Amino acid sequence: MKFHQTSCHKFLVSTLSLIFITSIPLILLKNSHPPLSSSLRRSTELGDDDDDKCDVFSGKWVISPQGPYYTNETCPLIIDQHNCMKFGRPDLQFMKWRWKPFGCELPLFYATQFLEIVRGKSMAFVGDSVGRNQMQSLMCLLAHVTYAKDISNKSPSASIYSIHLFYSEYNFTLSAFWSPFLVKYKDSDPEGHSFNSLMSLYLDEADEEWAKEIKNFDYVIISVGQWFFRPLLYYQDGQLIGCHKCNHSNITSLTRYYGYKMAFQTTFKILLSLKTYKGVTFLRTFSAAHFENGDWNNGGSCDRTRPFTKEMKIEEYNKEFYLTQVEEFRKAKVEGIQNGLRFVLINITEIMWLRPDGHPNRYGHSMNRNASVNDCVHWCLPGPIDTWNEFLVYFMKRELLLRGKLKKNA
Ligand SMILES: *[C@@H]1O[C@H](CO)[C@@H](O)[C@H](O)[C@H]1NC(C)=O
Ligand SMILES: *[C@@H]1O[C@H](CO)[C@@H](O)[C@H](O)[C@H]1NC(C)=O
Ligand SMILES: *[C@@H]1O[C@H](CO)[C@@H](O)[C@H](O)[C@H]1NC(C)=O
Ligand SMILES: *[C@@H]1O[C@H](CO)[C@@H](O)[C@H](O)[C@H]1NC(C)=O
Ligand SMILES: *[C@@H]1O[C@H](CO)[C@@H](O)[C@H](O)[C@H]1NC(C)=O
Ligand SMILES: *[C@@H]1O[C@H](CO)[C@@H](O)[C@H](O)[C@H]1NC(C)=O
Repeated sequence: MKFHQTSCHKFLVSTLSLIFITSIPLILLKNSHPPLSSSLRRSTELGDDDDDKCDVFSGKWVISPQGPYYTNETCPLIIDQHNCMKFGRPDLQFMKWRWKPFGCELPLFYATQFLEIVRGKSMAFVGDSVGRNQMQSLMCLLAHVTYAKDISNKSPSASIYSIHLFYSEYNFTLSAFWSPFLVKYKDSDPEGHSFNSLMSLYLDEADEEWAKEIKNFDYVIISVGQWFFRPLLYYQDGQLIGCHKCNHSNITSLTRYYGYKMAFQTTFKILLSLKTYKGVTFLRTFSAAHFENGDWNNGGSCDRTRPFTKEMKIEEYNKEFYLTQVEEFRKAKVEGIQNGLRFVLINITEIMWLRPDGHPNRYGHSMNRNASVNDCVHWCLPGPIDTWNEFLVYFMKRELLLRGKLKKNA
């Protein structure tokens, strides 16, 4: 009996110290963050006085002694699609890496600091389920401080994939607008909708799902990706102008990059033309999939348990998506300067390419998907996608400084 108690005690002590070493520091951040004004004053947190001296996107993944910000126990909001631990993922190492820029530190995410910045404001994620994945990460990063009320429109005409939350303590609205192409789209396959069915895109018409709602938002995070791989009919001015993989000899064949380029061009044009829109627009760049030993639909999987080393080059087609959207982003950024609108790049394409270990693979379950398909597109929570929100708040703070809303030396 005595012996048993002692070993039990020993076990507890070592488990506790292990927890302290591996996970408590980040979880305790809610109480230990510096006040907003003083932390923003310290220019080292923002890179440097000169805002472009430190490139936070140039760096490497390093093992972090602190471990993840949350677990599936401390954040009850993780949906099954992202809840890799719940479905038995055996390795934990993937949640213990942090992004380390070469020239500076990427500041930690402090929930109350974020919430003070967004007090009385609104934020929208516009895009597909990977954009939604980032919002789910954000909800977990905030979950130890406060929870939101679901205020989504439940009418039958509303999209079931868009979601609207309200953090009443902070008067903060957080929305995800479901818009997998950013532009208007419809199913066009005689066989009906499936993973790889034919769809029509109206490349010069923004998707009303977000376009009619976005003008009052203060922060808008735009992103789209994998849906552009499917067979697509392209329309402009209401006319069919070409297609991607539609296999009709009488229709001009155009690339997936053409559709991608036009989708961003149209999106930025709309944002630049909305009279009352004053928000900061973030482009979260293309997030590549990591299927190996087959494609998504013929047994491909992502079994790695460590990041790639730098020598593993991203495939050309992934790079092409990134380059295409960044070209449109640059044009919008220049135009935005003329009408006082800010466009900010969250440049994660290469950074996330290094993380083949961060996907649900076979340890994520989605209601409407065939479980025999591995998920090497979305990201486990917690996991490397939490970094996107570290970048997000880093640039939100920088925007406030640039706008003079927070004085560096005040
Ligand atoms: C959390 O993950 C553990 C495995 O690490 C699992 O046993 C448990 O059921 C999960 N809990 C929730 C609430 O998902
Ligand atoms: C909440 O925020 C909105 C702007 O998003 C503002 O119009 C309103 O006055 C705020 N309400 C309170 C009680 O602060
Ligand atoms: C056209 O052919 C390609 C290659 O065989 C295939 O992947 C694609 O699904 C086809 N498109 C349609 C609309 O059936
Ligand atoms: C192309 O041919 C198909 C029949 O194969 C026809 O239904 C379609 O209208 C034609 N499209 C154009 C743009 O001419
Ligand atoms: C994005 O980041 C990569 C490194 O991760 C870098 O090579 C590239 O130049 C960056 N692009 C921009 C536009 O900052
Ligand atoms: C899931 O996919 C497999 C392989 O493609 C197929 O054999 C099976 O019938 C599918 N199951 C469901 C429920 O769709």
